[in-house]
Amino acid sequence: MPDETQVFFDSGDEKVLLSKEAIDSKVKGLGQEISNDYEGLSPILIGVLNGSFIFCADLFRSITIDCEVDFIKISSYGDAMQTSGEVKLKKDVDAHLKNRHVIVVEDIVDSGYSVNYLRERLGKVEPKSLKFVSLLVKEGTARVDYSIDYVGFNIPDRFVVGYGLDYAQKFRNLPAVYLME
Ligand code: IMP
Ligand code: MG
Repeated sequence: MPDETQVFFDSGDEKVLLSKEAIDSKVKGLGQEISNDYEGLSPILIGVLNGSFIFCADLFRSITIDCEVDFIKISSYGDAMQTSGEVKLKKDVDAHLKNRHVIVVEDIVDSGYSVNYLRERLGKVEPKSLKFVSLLVKEGTARVDYSIDYVGFNIPDRFVVGYGLDYAQKFRNLPAVYLME
């Protein structure tokens, strides 16, 4: 009896929402844009764990200017497919962000609660600038007003996994972004 992950891998192309090639070229483009916008500013990327760790690593490598990286860990989903609405801090940033140009790296924005939580929390340490990049933004699912500065793809309101995104901690290692049943 194959495990769930294997079944998923074998399930065919029809569930692929974004191919590895589409993601790669988008991430390169975002890296170029950020490199142009932050020339001479030595920004620091803050990857939001766990979901953005793969996107953050690829984006970081596609940035061609002086740049640093650190991480913050929050949670709002538990193992569910719906946000609980309550964002919890699991691990704080270690780097000193005061007077730095900070770029928060998210995997996906859904309700907007996480982005607003991070904007408020990181804003308190007085960065010189604070911007957000998200690989994915779900359309029509915002429950609060939020703003994102760089967006990879706008996607329909479906649960997606792969390229770092999970369902109950599974499927993060899939190379593309897939629609969950
Ligand atoms: P928000 O606070 O509702 O905007 O949710 C943001 C977080 O929820 C993301 O950073 C993801 O970790 C998680 N999330 C939202 N939608 C999905 C999805 O379709 N697949 C996997 N994780 C998701
Ligand atoms: Mg996340």
